[in-house]
Amino acid sequence: MQEHDPVAAPKAYSGVARSFHWITVAAVFVMVPVGLTMSYRGNTLDLWDDLTNNLYSSHKLLGFLLLWWIVLRLTYRLIHGAPADEPTLEWWQKAGSHLVHWLLYALLLIVPVLGWIGVSLYPALDIFGLFNLPALAAPNEDMAKRVLNIHGWLALSMALLISVHIAAVLYHALIRRDGVFRRMWPRA
Ligand code: HEM
Ligand code: HEM
Repeated sequence: MQEHDPVAAPKAYSGVARSFHWITVAAVFVMVPVGLTMSYRGNTLDLWDDLTNNLYSSHKLLGFLLLWWIVLRLTYRLIHGAPADEPTLEWWQKAGSHLVHWLLYALLLIVPVLGWIGVSLYPALDIFGLFNLPALAAPNEDMAKRVLNIHGWLALSMALLISVHIAAVLYHALIRRDGVFRRMWPRA
């Protein structure tokens, strides 16, 4: 979006970039609790009822769709770039935010790919008894457990990084009171 005065009102992310951001946020905010709940019910409580199975199917299907959403988002980002940094930021704030953003993009790709490879190896590709996700690897249960373990730890690392990202946004919005929050807010 083009602003009238680039000093008073720094350029914001485009409507498309903001839609990509907030739909991703909504999906990740569903994926993490569903992942933890289904794995707790299945692995810890050994409760393999309809609810657990439906949570697994929902997690796999939404995660699979989210992967392609992230591929589209990254393609758009690489083609269109981002608005110039908010002009009042210190050099270390610019460097830190770029690092966190690119780490988030990397994890948003790696986490669902490892989930998909894990369920291919298991194999546990079934979605609500209706269809199977395409397999990426031949069955190997030991390897599946290792890959899904890494998937879970990287997902939790991503949740931690997201907390850092949200804390930084709140710092900009409430303490520093600069234009960072407005750049990504839906009504910017
Ligand atoms: C699942 C959670 C989240 C993820 C994965 C995420 C990821 C990202 C990424 C990758 C960027 C960089 C965009 C780019 O330059 O292409 C970004 C920017 C931004 N995000 Fe998030 N975000 C999340 C949650 C949030 C939340 C909850 C807020 C608000 C409270 C927020 C506010 C912002 C803002 C204001 C920017 C723009 C920063 C700037 O101007 O440099 N994000 N986010
Ligand atoms: C960004 C997308 C994703 C996020 C944020 C995510 C997050 C998580 C989390 C937090 C857990 C729980 C880990 C634990 O119990 O410690 C989990 C488990 C799991 N995820 Fe994902 N996941 C994503 C995508 C996927 C995809 C695409 C698949 C498969 C197609 C998948 C398959 C699984 C499976 C099978 C488990 C259970 C592992 C087990 O029972 O030990 N995930 N995920």
